[in-house]
Amino acid sequence: MHVEEQIRLRYCGEEMKSLKTVSDAYLLIKDDRIHSFGISSEDKLRDIRMNHLQLTEIDAAGGHVFPSWVDSHTHLVYAGSRENEFVGRLNGLSYEEIAERGGGILQSAARLRLASEDDLFESAKNRLNEIMLLGTGSVEIKSGYGLDMESELKMLRVIKRLKEKSSLTIRSTFLGAHAVPQEYKGNKRDYLKLLINEMLPAIAEEKLADYCDIFCEKNYFTKEDALELFNAANRFGIIPKVHAEQLSHSGGIQAGIESNARSVDHLEFASAEDILLLKKSETMPVLLPGAQFFLGLQNPPARDMINAGLSVAISSDFNPGSCPSGNMNQMVSFACILYKMTPEEAILAATTNSAYAINLSHETGSIAIGKKANLFITKEIPSYSFLPYSFGSNLADRIILNGKLMNKNSF
Ligand code: NIG
Ligand code: FE
Repeated sequence: MHVEEQIRLRYCGEEMKSLKTVSDAYLLIKDDRIHSFGISSEDKLRDIRMNHLQLTEIDAAGGHVFPSWVDSHTHLVYAGSRENEFVGRLNGLSYEEIAERGGGILQSAARLRLASEDDLFESAKNRLNEIMLLGTGSVEIKSGYGLDMESELKMLRVIKRLKEKSSLTIRSTFLGAHAVPQEYKGNKRDYLKLLINEMLPAIAEEKLADYCDIFCEKNYFTKEDALELFNAANRFGIIPKVHAEQLSHSGGIQAGIESNARSVDHLEFASAEDILLLKKSETMPVLLPGAQFFLGLQNPPARDMINAGLSVAISSDFNPGSCPSGNMNQMVSFACILYKMTPEEAILAATTNSAYAINLSHETGSIAIGKKANLFITKEIPSYSFLPYSFGSNLADRIILNGKLMNKNSF
């Protein structure tokens, strides 16, 4: 069992090298919270049974107990799929070339605009169920396939309904600045004005977003656009996040830090200077190895970041274009295999540090007294390193969210 004596909001650099564990442990849950844990013994168990008469016992023998994964970056509300683009890339087209031909984000936007709120809710609910069974307990979900007032609101209302209904803890992000929609082609200025003057106020009014994100990239939005959007978002109390330095170096990290972003995400093209800037900030760098792997991009400087003493988080980027998977165990494996992160570093990056990226690390992301009882118990495994090692298996056997044992229809 991987545990924490005192709640830590994030782990930085060297601190990510060790994972505190308790063997032959007990863990007591009261209501939806972790009440206590420690080394188990006959006496201890007798004591617990005497003091807690309504006790339900779960035997985890042979398994390991982990805090649920936290996925701080997804686009899991979407309509349709984009395997045609996947095949296009296998035949030599790049992500940028596909976008130039009307594919990519605009393809998903065209489909989402036609989908009903109920259909979007149902498909997203199925994806949430799928990731819950893979061990994820908290997830951030972005808009950004609507790209007009009505469709962005539709997406955010779907996320709101998911928040209310799901056992997973959900945070929502307004990503109207994901791409310039077809009807504003060549007229980005006016689209930015729409985002700032009309969409943001309407979203703030309905309290539909915790965060505001932008795709800072050549042919999408610039660092200056990001600063302008975030200035407005901050005035509404909507916290910035950035898709930064994914396909090229565009200054997204700098814009994020200057705007007090909670996280800057992707970072394949982050520079040595960016690492120094991050070091002086409270902003979490979030790496998305699934998207990098799927698009065949270069590695972000993960080891340089950790060696410089930075905190690093890992998330999935679950979306139809660049990562059609929300399997966090696999993301942890990829972080080890691609970035040479150790199992300890990768597990902390996908739990506590990822929780920090959505301001949830006081509530979840580790086994600590008082935190939400969001856990998974694995099948019988020899060590915790067996988790990233088994990159294609689902070892999460029993899932506990908010202190309750989930089943495959729990949602
Ligand atoms: O995080 N980089 C921009 N946005 C998504 C991709 C979205 C899409 O292709 O639909 C990402 O990779
Ligand atoms: Fe993304």
